[in-house]
Amino acid sequence: MKQIILNILQKHSKSDLNENMIEIPPNSELGDYAFPCFILSKELKKSPIEISKELKNKIQLNKQIVKIEANGPYLNFYVNKGYLAEQTISKILKQKECYGAQKKKKEKVMIEYSQPNSHKAFHVGHIRGTSIGEALSRILTYNGYKVLQANYSGDTGAHIGKWLWNYLDKHNGEKPPKDSVEKWVADIYVEAVQRIVNNPELEEKSKEIIYKLENNKDPKLNKLWNKTKQWSVDAFNKIYNDLDAHFDYWFWESEMEDKGKEIVKELLKEHLAIISQGVPVMDLKQYNLGVWVLLRQDGTTLYSAKDLALANIKFNKYKIDKSIYVVANHQALHFQQLFKTLELMKFKQAKDCYHLSFEMVILPEGKMSSRTGQNILYTDMKEELLQYSLEETKKRHKDWNKKQAEKSANAITIAALKFQMLIQDENKIITFNLEKSLDFEGETGPYIQYVYARINSILNRIKNKSAKPNYNLLEKEEEINLIKKLNQFEESIIKSAELYKPSILARYTLELTQLFNKFYHSCPVLNNNKQLENSRLVLVKATKQVLEIALGLLAIKSLKQM
Ligand code: ARG
Repeated sequence: MKQIILNILQKHSKSDLNENMIEIPPNSELGDYAFPCFILSKELKKSPIEISKELKNKIQLNKQIVKIEANGPYLNFYVNKGYLAEQTISKILKQKECYGAQKKKKEKVMIEYSQPNSHKAFHVGHIRGTSIGEALSRILTYNGYKVLQANYSGDTGAHIGKWLWNYLDKHNGEKPPKDSVEKWVADIYVEAVQRIVNNPELEEKSKEIIYKLENNKDPKLNKLWNKTKQWSVDAFNKIYNDLDAHFDYWFWESEMEDKGKEIVKELLKEHLAIISQGVPVMDLKQYNLGVWVLLRQDGTTLYSAKDLALANIKFNKYKIDKSIYVVANHQALHFQQLFKTLELMKFKQAKDCYHLSFEMVILPEGKMSSRTGQNILYTDMKEELLQYSLEETKKRHKDWNKKQAEKSANAITIAALKFQMLIQDENKIITFNLEKSLDFEGETGPYIQYVYARINSILNRIKNKSAKPNYNLLEKEEEINLIKKLNQFEESIIKSAELYKPSILARYTLELTQLFNKFYHSCPVLNNNKQLENSRLVLVKATKQVLEIALGLLAIKSLKQM
């Protein structure tokens, strides 16, 4: 619809107009769409009020646009509702694989996300990054990009030294308990840190271990490192199975050491890096980016140098056009330093690197039974949510057996978790409220699942599925609002992809279900007027289809019954 209006306007202007310039008034009395005429002031050298009056007189009404009004600086368009309904609904129902997917783009985008470190916890921040990364991957794929999904984990460096030292010293030979591998592994690290805090001279021992590992001095140590790393990988894979996250590649920091050192040598040779206090650094002070240290005193590689290596591998080996790093915003400086260094190295794709940063997740004090603050483990959080949703499910479905109830409660739990992670703008802090996230009537994943289940039950109740609609009958405000929202689906998917913001699609999905609920309460589908019933039926079907696609892109499971 915006495109139609745009075409009309474009006849009266030489400047390039685009769909984003067309607004949807908050109140439909001000038209279905509005164009703010100040956009043309400069070109036409007139006030927006004059322009809007002139355009109103010049533009002819047609089948699609039934009324135009000049309202101050705005030009308000009123559309033919039957036409809007028909266009919107039939387009959705005709195309199973719709929109962007048709226009194949050639760009190959690598999205790196999740990135938990081995031997450490998968915490609530990882859940946010994983949810965003997986959704973004699907959204870009849907928009026609070739997407490569990558993980990148730290398996070397300080935390490994501490972990292995503490394990050898205190837990040698122990194995993780089957049902809580992640927690057990994470606890050994926490304990190591605690011991070193109490006894700082112990840190030397962990440093020795890093040195031995990186220089392959002790095969037995390397074996232990590999074995224990696998424990983490297995635990993470279980979590990815829960979260429906998928990776084409899994990079490790340990694989970046040799290449990292090589690059540092090169940087020194070219006088881009300097030696300062005995270590190679990038002096980026003139760019307000401080000093970026590349190697440790003993020559082992730091996070910085490894990222230089990784960027090289991503572009040169995998021939990608764009590299997106989905990483928490406290690493913003690191990525600025990385991208600046790549630019100074004349790495030609430096400009094609993008840090998609996201804010942290906190829990309201005291709500969690065990821990507070930021370091909430995925497993703890899931357990707690699962208990609530299992109780709720059992209450609602006394007839379900244990397996049925558990399956449903699991899907609800993950939806609750993921939707809270996705609905909030990426740049805003999330205060995760467990009870609220499960509220069937709130702005939550379970609410959306509930509406989807409701749609299913409506469609199950109605026999005549090959209905012939009369679109002109869809004229109640609740119907029109729902249709308009459906009409915006394509725009919201494209915007979500262009701005790398799954939150836009999540917000859209929520609003769509809210409007559907309003429609449901004021427009009964089962109806004595069969023509009206048929018309509402296609509207319900179109909503179902859009909701299925949207939930699929957000990687949230829909439920037929709740
Ligand atoms: N594993 C890192 C951490 O836990 C995040 C990795 C982010 N990606 C990167 N290319 N540096 O902090």
